[in-house]
Amino acid sequence: MTEIWTLLKLLRWATDFFSGKGIDSPRLNAELLLAHALKLDRVGLYMNYDRPLNAEELDLIRPLVKRRAQREPLQYLIGETEFWSLPFKVTPDVLIPRADTEILVEEALARAGENGRLLDVGCGSGAIVVSLASELPGWQLEGLDISPVALTIASENAMANGVAGQILFRNGDLAELPRESYDLIVSNPPYIAAAEWETLMPEVRCYEPRLALVAVDEGLVCYCQLAAQASERLNPGGWLLVEIGYQQGDAVREIFSAAGLQEIFLREDYAGQPRVVGGQRKK
Ligand SMILES: C[S@@+](CC[C@H](N)C(=O)[O-])C[C@H]1O[C@@H](n2cnc3c(N)ncnc32)[C@H](O)[C@@H]1O
Repeated sequence: MTEIWTLLKLLRWATDFFSGKGIDSPRLNAELLLAHALKLDRVGLYMNYDRPLNAEELDLIRPLVKRRAQREPLQYLIGETEFWSLPFKVTPDVLIPRADTEILVEEALARAGENGRLLDVGCGSGAIVVSLASELPGWQLEGLDISPVALTIASENAMANGVAGQILFRNGDLAELPRESYDLIVSNPPYIAAAEWETLMPEVRCYEPRLALVAVDEGLVCYCQLAAQASERLNPGGWLLVEIGYQQGDAVREIFSAAGLQEIFLREDYAGQPRVVGGQRKK
């Protein structure tokens, strides 16, 4: 007799399998993956615990469970994540936006008036610039990235979130920012030192784009390049705001100070780790 797999039985199997493979929050991962595969929300999942799954559904779900057990990130399997309460498409061509990066969005909003011009350097999926556009209808925004594929995804995310008309996406290298003047320049650049790469979780090391994560000079090169250009590219009184690694606060503050930026501050994230450094061009 063929074994009957109800939704609950499959959920328990996937949870145990994830647990054995060292996946964090195994039950949550199993629920989100099954809900995605069966096109249900999580409440729909609970309401259908006793439903037997057919062969087609099992054939769809089992390979996804195996891929997650091999540490492929849930967000890449689902193809979407949430940032600033907005949906973002993600593929392995872009970094999965992190909740901690919302601190950078908060700091930008705290300095944004009614209108102005903003550049997001290394925009990736567009998480920062799209979120800011959704909050700043009077602003002109730009997203710059060296990866053309990332820019395609960022444009799709701008479109899906109804802010495409406000954002210009540019392909380019942050070593040479556009010759324009901005009121705010924000960036979550690559900042992991090459030596740290091997210590990262398999989800990051084996699946996320290295180009989005690793930077030379102990992970500090992008901060040096951004700070060196800030005075020429910022309007007087404009701000450069960057996300940092938790051990980089002092180094980045020094880089900003040496570049002549003023009112330099460091903001911690909600876990109490240094997360954002900002500096202002003289008024
Ligand atoms: C840490 S990710 C940040 C992505 C997105 N802003 C976020 O916060 O989720 C860094 C981004 O910088 C881009 N990047 C890396 N080197 C660059 C360079 N030299 N010039 C411009 N962009 C670069 C990568 O392609 C990647 O999208």
